[in-house]
Amino acid sequence: MPVSLAGKVIIITGASSGIGAGAARLLAEQGCKLTLAARSVDKLEALAAELAGESLVVRADMTAPADIENMVAQTLQRFGRIDALFANAGIFIHGEYADNDIRDISAMLAINVEGVLRCAHAVIPIMKAQGAGDIIVTSSVAGHEKLHRGPAYGATKHAIETFVNTLRRQVAEDGIRVMSLAPARVANELWNLTEPEEIEKVTVGDQHYLKVDDVVEAAIYMLTRPRHVTIRNLVIIAKQQDV
Ligand SMILES: NC(=O)c1ccc[n+]([C@@H]2O[C@H](COP(=O)([O-])OP(=O)(O)OC[C@H]3O[C@@H](n4cnc5c(N)ncnc54)[C@H](OP(=O)(O)O)[C@@H]3O)[C@@H](O)[C@H]2O)c1
Repeated sequence: MPVSLAGKVIIITGASSGIGAGAARLLAEQGCKLTLAARSVDKLEALAAELAGESLVVRADMTAPADIENMVAQTLQRFGRIDALFANAGIFIHGEYADNDIRDISAMLAINVEGVLRCAHAVIPIMKAQGAGDIIVTSSVAGHEKLHRGPAYGATKHAIETFVNTLRRQVAEDGIRVMSLAPARVANELWNLTEPEEIEKVTVGDQHYLKVDDVVEAAIYMLTRPRHVTIRNLVIIAKQQDV
């Protein structure tokens, strides 16, 4: 039986668009108390205004360690606990690696890998003290397959998969679950897909992309399993996607 998420305190990074914003909408419907984190505070505030439940907006750049510490501290101060971290913020740089700007690659490593590791490091002591907590990281199918179109992106997501699968065993006895959610293409801002008709065409029509809610519903499935169950890695792809 699914466990209720009502009243759970969840930090969502990358909440200003795409999967993170979609997660905020569906988790708010489930009665969660949310910390919405990203750099675009205007977008976060607009999102918070449309949510039914309680939420806290925090400006947090995942490349700034002090921002991550502040995000966690503010959440604790406001809500008194942290039930889950959805470490979702990430960027996608693809194409010919030799043509990529190395500063962009460095930023991607900082956001997709170091940012996730720092977020987890900041919440683990709190979750240990609570005796329970969930960490879900948005990985990618690129963390499972060797997709030649994005060598550096694939490296970040493979790093995250290794982190999840190993950290999981270190903190399992503390009641903490560590999980990765690995979607293939999702029709959202990352691909400049924002028009509903266009999204409908590439998802339900062509079946080459997932919808944001397909991914968020998978995250909710992971979070609502009974505490003795860990969905360690969940790969979700559009039916016709060729991976
Ligand atoms: N869309 C896909 O096809 C797809 C497929 C597989 C996996 N993913 C993964 O899904 C996750 C979410 O991406 P998305 O699809 O939702 O794309 P998105 O709509 O572009 O969202 C990316 C989010 O990350 C945040 N972000 C970017 N740089 C940041 C930084 N330096 N500090 C803090 N936040 C930052 C952005 O917020 P601000 O710009 O406001 O900071 C935004 O909220 C990523 O980890 C991505 O790798 C996406």
